[in-house]
Amino acid sequence: MKVLVVYAHPNPKSFNHAILEELKKGLADGGHTCDVIDLYAMQFNPRLGTEDFAAYSGGGVPGDVKKHQEKIAAADALVFIYPIWWWQPPALFKGWIDRVMTLNFAFTFDDKGPEGLLTHKKIVFINTTMGPEKQYKDTGIANAITKIDEATWRFVCGVRDVQHLFLYSVGDNDEVRRGYLEKVYSFGKEFTS
Ligand SMILES: Cc1cc2nc3c(=O)[nH]c(=O)nc-3n(C[C@H](O)[C@H](O)[C@H](O)COP(=O)(O)O)c2cc1C
Repeated sequence: MKVLVVYAHPNPKSFNHAILEELKKGLADGGHTCDVIDLYAMQFNPRLGTEDFAAYSGGGVPGDVKKHQEKIAAADALVFIYPIWWWQPPALFKGWIDRVMTLNFAFTFDDKGPEGLLTHKKIVFINTTMGPEKQYKDTGIANAITKIDEATWRFVCGVRDVQHLFLYSVGDNDEVRRGYLEKVYSFGKEFTS
């Protein structure tokens, strides 16, 4: 399967970066091809600006957005890797959605509501947290994150299979981290539609 990974963490020494590397290894060992968009490294511009709207009304999208859309269109599945910050994705990732998931690329809209145009077999979120699983479950935050992502990617963009892999309580415990990296490697190797 052709997998496009969209990755948002500024630090190449972070645990998220280790996850990215492990996923790439797993996908390669499982016979999948993998392309990566590293949003911080490429200094993606996340600001939805007047040029985005101008291009919209002219029927097109800005050149940098077009390149992202081409990569998305070439993939069979998408994986999003980022840490949870303030119970949400990093703003850079949110800006990526704002600018790249445009009308007539990701969805259409009429008086019945949105209709998704993405044809990917699945979308998987890999999110790390500092907080423990119990906190995320008891507060309903895990459910809220899942519901918002499903609304965006299933309800609006049309991808039926939207999954979350939460890696909770990422602290300094080497054993916990090793366990998560093994999990991510296996997940990549056994990636299925
Ligand atoms: C700006 C900021 C906000 C954060 N907000 C949260 C939060 O709301 N909930 C949480 O569990 N962890 C939060 N964290 C902790 C990160 O989720 C945690 O450091 C990260 O998942 C660990 O992965 P890393 O080593 O790759 O950064 C926050 C961290 C930062 C830098």
